[in-house]
Amino acid sequence: MKMRINYSEATSILIILQTLWWGLNSQCEEPIESSKLDLSVTYDLPHFVSDTPVQKLLEFNGTVYVGAVNKLYALSKDLKKIHEYNTGPVHEGHDCSAPDPCSGCKNKPLNKNNTNMALLMETFYDLELFSCGSVGNGVCHRYLLEDGPLDAEISCMYSKKNKDSSYGCPDCLAGPSGTQILNVMSSGVVRFFVANSEVLDSTVPRLHHTISVRKMRETQDGFEFFSKQSYMDLAPGLRGNYPLHYVYSFQSGPYIYFLTVQREGGSSNAFHTRIVRMCSSDPEILRYVEMPFECIYSERRRKKRSAQVVFNVLQAAHVAKVGYDFQQEMGLKEGEDVLFAAFARSKPDSPEPTASSAVCLISITDINNFFRDFMQKGYTRKLSHFPGSEDKNFNQVRAFNQIMHFLQSVLARVAIWFIRDTGYRLEVTSTNPRRDYFHGRFRNVLLTSIAVVPIQNHTVVSLGTAEGRVIQVVVSRFGKTEPHVDFRLDALPVSSEMALLSPQRHDGSLLLVTGNKVSKVPLRGPGCEQLWTCNSCLLAPAFMGCGWCKTSDRCTRAPRCSPSHWIQDTCPLLITTISPSSAPLGGHTNMTICGKNFGFNKKDPCLLHWFTTTSCSLFLWREMFMSLCCMSGWSNPVITDIFPEFGPKSGGTVLTITGSFLDSGNMQLVTMGNATCALQSISATMLTCRTPPQPSPSQHKVQLHIDGVIREAPVSYTYNENPHISSVQPKHSFIRSALPPTFTFTFSHFTCSHDEDKRNILCITPSLKGLSVQPPVATKMTFVLDGFSTDQYDLLYVEDPKFEEFQKPTVTPRGNKSILEIKGNKIEAVKNGEVLRVSNRTCESVTLVGNTLECTVPMELQSAAKELEVEVRDSFILSSTSDHSM
Ligand SMILES: *[C@@H]1O[C@H](CO)[C@@H](O)[C@H](O)[C@H]1NC(C)=O
Ligand SMILES: *[C@@H]1O[C@H](CO)[C@@H](O)[C@H](O)[C@H]1NC(C)=O
Ligand SMILES: *[C@@H]1O[C@H](CO)[C@@H](O)[C@H](O)[C@H]1NC(C)=O
Ligand SMILES: *[C@@H]1O[C@H](CO)[C@@H](O)[C@H](O)[C@H]1NC(C)=O
Ligand SMILES: *[C@@H]1O[C@H](CO)[C@@H](O)[C@H](O)[C@H]1NC(C)=O
Ligand SMILES: *[C@@H]1O[C@H](CO)[C@@H](O)[C@H](O)[C@H]1NC(C)=O
Ligand SMILES: *[C@@H]1O[C@H](CO)[C@@H](O)[C@H](O)[C@H]1NC(C)=O
Repeated sequence: MKMRINYSEATSILIILQTLWWGLNSQCEEPIESSKLDLSVTYDLPHFVSDTPVQKLLEFNGTVYVGAVNKLYALSKDLKKIHEYNTGPVHEGHDCSAPDPCSGCKNKPLNKNNTNMALLMETFYDLELFSCGSVGNGVCHRYLLEDGPLDAEISCMYSKKNKDSSYGCPDCLAGPSGTQILNVMSSGVVRFFVANSEVLDSTVPRLHHTISVRKMRETQDGFEFFSKQSYMDLAPGLRGNYPLHYVYSFQSGPYIYFLTVQREGGSSNAFHTRIVRMCSSDPEILRYVEMPFECIYSERRRKKRSAQVVFNVLQAAHVAKVGYDFQQEMGLKEGEDVLFAAFARSKPDSPEPTASSAVCLISITDINNFFRDFMQKGYTRKLSHFPGSEDKNFNQVRAFNQIMHFLQSVLARVAIWFIRDTGYRLEVTSTNPRRDYFHGRFRNVLLTSIAVVPIQNHTVVSLGTAEGRVIQVVVSRFGKTEPHVDFRLDALPVSSEMALLSPQRHDGSLLLVTGNKVSKVPLRGPGCEQLWTCNSCLLAPAFMGCGWCKTSDRCTRAPRCSPSHWIQDTCPLLITTISPSSAPLGGHTNMTICGKNFGFNKKDPCLLHWFTTTSCSLFLWREMFMSLCCMSGWSNPVITDIFPEFGPKSGGTVLTITGSFLDSGNMQLVTMGNATCALQSISATMLTCRTPPQPSPSQHKVQLHIDGVIREAPVSYTYNENPHISSVQPKHSFIRSALPPTFTFTFSHFTCSHDEDKRNILCITPSLKGLSVQPPVATKMTFVLDGFSTDQYDLLYVEDPKFEEFQKPTVTPRGNKSILEIKGNKIEAVKNGEVLRVSNRTCESVTLVGNTLECTVPMELQSAAKELEVEVRDSFILSSTSDHSM
């Protein structure tokens, strides 16, 4: 739009307002940007597709190991297959005569697929990969990788010497319902902490301990337990019917942690999440403690108390170090580990998640402080689901810790039985709930995966959803940041299993699993194309490397645009509307300019320049989409006329004001004396309003007020007495059509006209034909004259008259008069209604004789007219030849 501003007319300079005016929202139509991101964009990312579903991922020294059903793959960094190992299918059954799970059954049908249950790397003794499957009782295979993945030496980790172990099967690591295995080196020994989710079938034999710690045999062909204290199993009554799911495990400092989803305990059937902590240096389960981990969100509701929602079931977690910014904001020490956990709300009394998630985070230091404080206060009890645990008070715990600390490196083995009595196996009964870090943003999504990586000074969280989307968001204080990436990776859910590839490098990436597919998502984002406006493009985190490509009008990375058209600091300015389009001279009109990219220039806000040269002060600047200034006018509104110039004192008359620039400025107000004339319509040249009432007949100035300036009409408006109606004639009408006598009348909306002296008004009664009413119909009528309502008057609708067909009216002389005779039925009303006219005159007199109407023809017609025109209402026009004239 073009706008001309006449600077010489600008008479005054402006008020500078500091306050923000949120009402502006309603003036500028904000672009439909519920999301800064175009959610339909997809990216073509490097990926690997396995023949079978993928369960586990592990990255080591640039090689990606993929554990899938019946397969173990070694992939290069760009996800090209280097090597594959077959791990199944196998034959299993009672008919198998093999002496151990490693030998396999020869010449038998392959009846069992081997699902990968655990994949772990051990580098202390050797460079070795352990892969444990669902077959062979969860016994693992060891891949010695000294010569690289192409030439691994494979051995089965089952020792025949263990066959009669009194501790069960030390080589059976992976349980069939899912397992979490952590290998930790402590004091020159690698310990394998194994936690197996409970199989919900009480008929299955129990080969796997629920939670245990073991080490590799020195012969490196199997595992062994230190003692009966090296494992715990669910209480016999709970086996097979106590859902206990190990979701995630990690090591931090001297501890190892497992995160579980299980029943709250006591009489409750509800599920919750717990943090389990053990000491990585303990060869037995000596120091074991659990604590609930609660993630909540408080929904703000107006007037009501805020409703607290508990996200009870953990879906995925990741322990990571955070970037410098977040570390500062959270007051964390450098290098401190933080647990990021994606929770869902479960169905009632079930661990099954619903599509409602939250993300809570806690530093490991805080977890340990909570454990310490609650144990110190005695908010503990013995474990209800594991038998043989004992309640210990904190003093015993502390004494134990001191002794342990003293003895640890010296005489561990001896010390252990000496102090075994003073170890602890407890559950903390209290918790400090954490709040959803994203304030309900993921309330309608099921998050299934989480990965956290520091990039430059930022901390980027990558979330996967059950719908196969990947969301990336920079975490900062209060979690108010918007995601900068949100795209569909696949139609299948994103698995909680993920791996990182060179995360500290600029081209680092995240490996995600969906079904049979492993995809490589760059940590700095898969691309910029989702950022569909220039502003969101340039405001995206710098590490994404996005810029606006002017040739394609898209957000891209530099290589996808010609360098001269790729901009990273200014968006092209676009103005959509300026309102008002004119403002009164001498007034102070707030002007709103709607558009995009106002002065979005990191170095030099361009529009500011425009404002200053137009003596216009910018006082609001929001979201870069609109702007507002207060400026002096450039138009001169004038009133040339008003109509009507008078009306009843009761008001309500529609007053039309004509002139020019009447619509300039932001607010127009018409006054008549002290009262306001309510605006009805407005344009540059015409304005209508409804006159206010006045107590008595009077004259008032008509004034137009616009943004502080006043314009007056050249004439005043006169209030008269309200109209008075002396009589209404006739009092009858016909059902079928209208009637044109001399009287005043209103039914609903129909036309009336004045006669010359303004004493009579002629109106046409409305037809009731369509209403199927039976005459006579008594009605009331009221006349609204310029907004003034009269009293009510009676009006009777009677049946339409019927004149005999083909019977022409006849005129017969009677004395020195002419009498017009009309034959008909039900024609009384014609007489009563005085609606019969002869050549546009009223009959001198009308009499009814039987079914004949006799009209005395007016004197002047008897001599003048040769032909008489007989008319009853509009619709009946009858002609007749006067006898008299013949
Ligand atoms: C990692 O791989 C490189 C070659 O890609 C190799 O030279 C190096 O020895 C490997 N390191 C380990 C610990 O295997
Ligand atoms: C193994 O898995 C394949 C699909 O991945 C399936 O078709 C087959 O029936 C499975 N075999 C057994 C024995 O379960
Ligand atoms: C990270 O933050 C520090 C301290 O504010 C600053 O000195 C450094 O330049 C920042 N690094 C990057 C890559 O922004
Ligand atoms: C212009 O907007 C400011 C901020 O809302 C307001 O205070 C001021 O009264 C407005 N001026 C006019 C003339 O409407
Ligand atoms: C307007 O109101 C003021 C005070 O309310 C009164 O003094 C004045 O006479 C009024 N003017 C008219 C024209 O009614
Ligand atoms: C018409 O006749 C009547 C009597 O029948 C008489 O009174 C009257 O004056 C006459 N009028 C004219 C205009 O001749
Ligand atoms: C009937 O008379 C009215 C005035 O009473 C006049 O305006 C109209 O033109 C006349 N109509 C005819 C057909 O002469």
